[in-house]
Amino acid sequence: MTVGGIYFSMPGNEAMASALAKRSHGNLGVLEHRRFPDAESYVRLASDVRGMDVTIVCTLARPDPQFLPLVFAADAARDCGAASVALVAPYLAYMRQDARFSEGEAMSSASFARRLSRSFDRIVTIDPHLHRHRSLDDLFDIPVHVAHAAPLLANWIAQNVNDPLIIGPDRESEQWIAAVANQVGAPHVVANKNRRGDRLVETSLPDLVQFAERSPVLVDDIVSSGRTMIEAARLLAAQGFAKPYCVIVHPIFSGNAFAEMLDAAQCIVSCDTISHVSNGIEVVSLLG
Ligand code: R5P
Repeated sequence: MTVGGIYFSMPGNEAMASALAKRSHGNLGVLEHRRFPDAESYVRLASDVRGMDVTIVCTLARPDPQFLPLVFAADAARDCGAASVALVAPYLAYMRQDARFSEGEAMSSASFARRLSRSFDRIVTIDPHLHRHRSLDDLFDIPVHVAHAAPLLANWIAQNVNDPLIIGPDRESEQWIAAVANQVGAPHVVANKNRRGDRLVETSLPDLVQFAERSPVLVDDIVSSGRTMIEAARLLAAQGFAKPYCVIVHPIFSGNAFAEMLDAAQCIVSCDTISHVSNGIEVVSLLG
């Protein structure tokens, strides 16, 4: 993270860019973006960047339309004489496509990382989805600084839920779910999940009878279709539990996911890595 420097916001990231500029005593630059009639992007840095450390803030929740304007902005900064160009992407997209499951499939995480590495000198992000890759260093050719939201999630749970039982979505989440539970001083379990399709997950939970008096709290790094949490909530109900609290790092909520989850949950709270009505946990302190 640059101390001082100049911060630009890609559309939709104004609040985060302004908070970061304030925290790091930097300046807020002006970036103009609009679409030409043919839908191509026009990008202009309307602030002088010569000799400056430039940070562009762009959470990548909708990466396909966001990517080209972002690269244009980074290239413009470099062409205009910036000393360095960094990206703050609280949510880093495409990290889940980390294997070739069928012949000929794009391994999007590696492709995306290669392209970002060409445009930026470094990246700052929060809890990227790492499953088969142990570290982002396996993917990126530039330094990537990773911050973790687990302590913030744990604080929220400790302040808002009595006698919680922390529940992780799958076995891969065990380590960080355990860290959250440990900080809260609560027990934890993880589900066994098999994804059969974009909107089809098969999940099983252990017998939770010993935790019957506790409040279930589902914790996940990403909610996209919502199927993982909705299925877990259904299994909890089958064991006689009340509707769960749902605590999320990256609230993508595609399509009707949020409305569907409102029916299944007692309360939904997310980090503001992506701007959403469920935001209740601020992450700017992790990035500054
Ligand atoms: C996957 O391993 C992640 O941790 C999430 O569980 C997953 O991305 C959630 O996706 P969805 O909301 O579409 O079930």
